[in-house]
Amino acid sequence: MITNSRLAALGLFDTRVPRYTSYPTAPQFNAAIGADSHRRWIAAIAPGSTVSLYVHIPFCRRLCWFCACRTQGTQKDAPVRAYLQTLQAELALLKQILPDGVELARLHWGGGTPTLLSPTMMQDLAGAIAAVAPLAEGAEFSVEIDPNEIDAARLDTLAAAGMTRASIGVQDFDPQIQQAIGRVQSYEVTRDAVAMLRARGIRSLNADILYGLPHQSRGRIADSVQKLLSLHPDRVALYGYAHVPWMARRQAMIATDSLPDPQQRLDLFETARRLFVWDGYDEIGIDHFATPQDGLGRARRRGGLRRNFQGYTDDSSEVLIGLGASAISRFPQGYTQNAAATSAHTGRIRAGEFSTARGHAFAGDDALRARIIEALMCDFRVETEELTTRFGAPRAQIDQLFAHANHQFDGLLELSETGLAIPPDLRPLTRLIARSFDAYELSKAGHSPAI
Ligand SMILES: C[S@@+](CC[C@H](N)C(=O)[O-])C[C@H]1O[C@@H](n2cnc3c(N)ncnc32)[C@H](O)[C@@H]1O
Ligand code: SF4
Repeated sequence: MITNSRLAALGLFDTRVPRYTSYPTAPQFNAAIGADSHRRWIAAIAPGSTVSLYVHIPFCRRLCWFCACRTQGTQKDAPVRAYLQTLQAELALLKQILPDGVELARLHWGGGTPTLLSPTMMQDLAGAIAAVAPLAEGAEFSVEIDPNEIDAARLDTLAAAGMTRASIGVQDFDPQIQQAIGRVQSYEVTRDAVAMLRARGIRSLNADILYGLPHQSRGRIADSVQKLLSLHPDRVALYGYAHVPWMARRQAMIATDSLPDPQQRLDLFETARRLFVWDGYDEIGIDHFATPQDGLGRARRRGGLRRNFQGYTDDSSEVLIGLGASAISRFPQGYTQNAAATSAHTGRIRAGEFSTARGHAFAGDDALRARIIEALMCDFRVETEELTTRFGAPRAQIDQLFAHANHQFDGLLELSETGLAIPPDLRPLTRLIARSFDAYELSKAGHSPAI
């Protein structure tokens, strides 16, 4: 049994570590990768193949204090309408170079709050996307939904456009906590949103909730989880609240002394985790839960769980194209990221060019390290044979990498002939263990990578 103080000594409570939704992580991207690379990599997509498309809508009607997402509050439709025109122009640029016959295996609208679009705006956007790349047979179309910002007309429009999955923001059901984080949302509002989604045939429904919120206690998080379970979500994302007021200025509204300390955070996570497991949910990676029938649970059992910018996914597409301000695209050749500010993004697109501001071209052992990190984040283990066959890496190199990581964690990892695994007691350290394979983070910290 590994105690909390041992976990703390190994670095759990005092280090800011990436969430590893990509490798290298976005802060490592560089400005040498621009629109040229983005164009070239899109043009290299195989004709007739399927890809995934992410569309970013960086607007919300309300700005919740706790939220660290890059999003802009607006009560007016004019900026949203202007942004949609930019998206249409970006889609037109894509159409010029996208090889023939490409279809979408996945389409995701995220934000911000995509559901602040009016039904007409939603129809126009869905139509413009379909004119460039239609949904493939059996495709999944998912939308992030704020239960406060949705109604029957908008849901009908999304359903008619082919929405198959939805993700709702809940955060916590406790009224005092909701007040403290600037996000008031009654149980009834959430319940009604779920009912409206189910009535439109949504079979895969995700809910986001948070641990580590102000005033959260074991009893309160247990109560929130029970309320959530009464709504039978297919998936749950249980994120740790990230308090970063120097990046997300509105978080200054949240009193730091009302936040649980790191030991309490771990306890809150564990309380929620146990309730989901008792209720029959499968644990998915470090912070998700899914019913055994859900796609994520099935993917985990067959070893097909992946990590992308939205977190855990069963999407196996090699290409993910990101549209809109700050959106990131992934190609077999590397990553590209659009200009983060809406104004900069709009300026470039209106001038007839993609707004790619930074990115990363895969080189050296990036692909090998990316797979090790993804496998640890998804499966808590990585197989030596997969690495030697897929990447042609010599066994000695893999052994050296694993031994180096194990040494950093006092020999507590499970190292064997077949690979490396993180024992259950050490799982709270998964992001830290993944970071020990991150050559960019290591060189930033002044250490030389193991190989
Ligand atoms: C785009 S929102 C979800 C959709 C919709 N806008 C809503 O609020 O219902 C993204 C999610 O990111 C998570 N999130 C935002 N800020 C966070 C923070 N500071 N720490 C951890 N998770 C956060 C929340 O769980 C939130 O539901
Ligand atoms: S939590 Fe959702 S609605 Fe609230 S500010 Fe963030 S993106 Fe907007």
